[in-house]
Amino acid sequence: MTRPSPTPARRAPARLGWLVPAVTVGGLLPVAVLVSDALSGALGANPIQRATLQTGLLTLALLVLSLACTPLRLLTGWTWPARIRKTLGLLGFGYAALHFLIYLLDHGLDLTLITEDVLKRPFITAGFTALLLLVPLALTSTPRAVRRLGFARWTRLHQLAYVAVSLGALHYYWGVKKDHTPPLIYAAVIAALFLIRFLIRFPKRGHDRSGTRGAGRAAKS
Ligand code: HEM
Repeated sequence: MTRPSPTPARRAPARLGWLVPAVTVGGLLPVAVLVSDALSGALGANPIQRATLQTGLLTLALLVLSLACTPLRLLTGWTWPARIRKTLGLLGFGYAALHFLIYLLDHGLDLTLITEDVLKRPFITAGFTALLLLVPLALTSTPRAVRRLGFARWTRLHQLAYVAVSLGALHYYWGVKKDHTPPLIYAAVIAALFLIRFLIRFPKRGHDRSGTRGAGRAAKS
C-alpha cells in the first residue's frame, strides 16, 4: 500500500513537486464535501448510511489506485506513479479509519454488539480484517520503518496490501443488496493488477536464479 520509492522519486523531474500536495488535497476534498453535506442536511434521510457508503467506496477506490501505481510504472516507465503511491495508500487507510469510526458511532460504541457483529457477519468480518491488515502497512510507511525492517521483509509485509484490498472488494460484494456489477468490476481490476505485476516480474526473476537481479528489481517496486 505505502511502498516507498527510493530511486524513482529521486529521478522524477523537479517540476512534479506539486504532485503529492495536489493528490493529498484532492484526496481530502471528499471529507470536506461530506462534512459540509452532513452539516447542511444534504446527506438525505439516512446520513449515517450515506456517509458509510461514501467513505467505503473512497477507501476501496484509493487503495486500488495505490495498487495500480507499480504496474503502471512497470508498464510505462513513468516515474510519477511511484511518487503518489504512498499518499494514495495513506489516504485510503484514512478513509477506512473514518468508515470504521462512523460504523462505531452508528453502533453506539457498544463493544459487545460490535464484537458480535464482527464475529457473526461475514460481510463485517471481511471489512474488519481488511482494516486490521492495513494498520501495519500504514505504520510502516515511513523511510525509518523500511530501514528498521530491512527492505526484503518490508516488501513482503506490504504484499498484504493485495489481501487487504481483495477483502475490501469481498466486503463490498457481500454488502451490496442488488447490483453486484460494481464490486465485480473492482475484483476484476484487482486481479488484473496482480496479474500484470506477476507477469512483468516473473520472467525477470526466472532469468537469474541467484536472486541478485530479482532483489534489485524488487527494491524498486
Ligand atoms: C479496507 C476496509 C474497508 C473497505 C474497502 C470497505 C468498503 C466498503 C464499501 C465499498 C461499502 C459500500 C457497499 C455498498 O455500496 O453497499 C461499504 C459498506 C459498509 N461497510 Fe465497509 N469497508 C471497509 C471496512 C469496514 C469495516 C472495518 C467496517 C466495520 C467493522 C465496515 C462496515 C461497513 C458497513 C456497515 C457498510 C454498509 C453500510 C450500509 O449499507 O448501510 N467496513 N464498505
